[in-house]
Amino acid sequence: MSMREQWGTRAGFILAAVGSAVGLGNIWRFPATAFENGGGAFFIPYLFALLTAGIPLLILEFTIGHKYRGSAPLSYAKMSKKSEWIGWWMVVVSFVISTYYSVIIAWAMSYSIFSFNLEWGSDTEGFLIGDYLQATDPGQFGGLVPGILIPLIIVWLVTLGVLFRGVKKGIEMANRIFIPTLVVIFIIIVIRAVTLPGAAAGLQAFFEPDFNAITSGGVWVAAYGQIFFSLSIAFAIMITYSSYLPKKSDITNNAFITGFSNSSFELLAGIGIFGALGFMATQAGTSVDEVVDGGIGLAFIVLPQIINEFPALSGLFGFLFFASLVLAGLSSLISITETYVKGISEKLGISRAKAVTFGGGLAAVISLVYATRGGINFLDAADYFINQFGVALLGLVEVVTIAWFMRKLNDFQQHANSVSDIRVGVWWKICLGIITPLVLGYMMFDLFRQNLLKLFETDNGNYEGYPDMFILLNGWLVAALALIIGVIFMFIRWKNKPD
Ligand code: PHE
Repeated sequence: MSMREQWGTRAGFILAAVGSAVGLGNIWRFPATAFENGGGAFFIPYLFALLTAGIPLLILEFTIGHKYRGSAPLSYAKMSKKSEWIGWWMVVVSFVISTYYSVIIAWAMSYSIFSFNLEWGSDTEGFLIGDYLQATDPGQFGGLVPGILIPLIIVWLVTLGVLFRGVKKGIEMANRIFIPTLVVIFIIIVIRAVTLPGAAAGLQAFFEPDFNAITSGGVWVAAYGQIFFSLSIAFAIMITYSSYLPKKSDITNNAFITGFSNSSFELLAGIGIFGALGFMATQAGTSVDEVVDGGIGLAFIVLPQIINEFPALSGLFGFLFFASLVLAGLSSLISITETYVKGISEKLGISRAKAVTFGGGLAAVISLVYATRGGINFLDAADYFINQFGVALLGLVEVVTIAWFMRKLNDFQQHANSVSDIRVGVWWKICLGIITPLVLGYMMFDLFRQNLLKLFETDNGNYEGYPDMFILLNGWLVAALALIIGVIFMFIRWKNKPD
């Protein structure tokens, strides 16, 4: 067995981990989530979630990868034969995420080009749905849309090309270029946004604390959900990346750096987005809460409108914004794709090149489904479901198995402390063994309750007007399928089990 691939430098690992964490979620999910959940007061549950779940889980996942030196499935298999399925389940969910995440990056790529002549015109919603996605009739599926297909091919060529070159020459190098570029571009955009006329109104709306909000359980659930998704926790990613750490590497300090960098970026995004929304509201003579949006609507409908109104250089700023989405997205897509590339390469004993070609190739082919007319409906449903249930469910299974069933926390604490500057103590075990399982358990319970209730509502008006049954059934179908595939993989014999 040849030596395991490794990061070239500590900074390389940190950049890659931050690159995975900083993604579309930071830019378009965090600002609206914070605003809707108490504004300035949201920072209390958010910081609490970061410190009691986000960073402790990062430390846990870094420890697992570093200790067992394997992809998530291999690491779980080494922990206990019986828990290998968890690794595969995470990997299959990651596979599913990669099939739609790639498509959003492709849209952003198109939009970075559209920026130059403000191609989207004044009806940005009509342009997105009708002209670009060609999904005007939501019931209609079928037919690839060339405008999505071409950038999607580029997205996959870049991602698979990077993975093909391996950990140090591929992933590390790409992040060394993408992340500093992203930070520079983003700072330019944020400075522009907060100096727009009316930006102050946006910032005021964003930071204005509503302390009443944080007495509601929903706000705490939102904070935990945001932290998990944003830090790419429980998706096999951080385990895979830390499995490439050299033997003598810090774990705990690296986890703190990754966690705080990600949150800083998120905060910066909130400031930039709300500066721009304040400008928009001022231009339109309305209040900021009239124009707030998150997700696809924010990035592809509201922001193009704002860019239209820019006093100068609108094309350039539009390009920079969408380029930052592309860079943030690509570094996350690379990380999520690496989870299954490494997983199948180790399981089947095939080369990285073959794993990239078959695993990545299959994801690329499946992603075409979302590049069809009306494919946005699948994409929206998948994204909604993963954000609602996926994160909480996988995180819960992970902590409960490790802390309660396998009782591994003492082992892992020792391992982390043997290599790290910062030592973890009882608080770490309390966070992982008690606080996180309780919060995630409550989160699952609450989600089930709400969704069951919705099934009995008659107006079906909960999410973009889709029938609830459509999202829920398909979502659970895919989640169950992912689990079944995971269990099947567990019964295949390891062809390449190092150590
Ligand atoms: N952390 C990324 C973000 O904030 C999203 C992501 C989640 C990427 C899971 C890969 C896997 O957008």
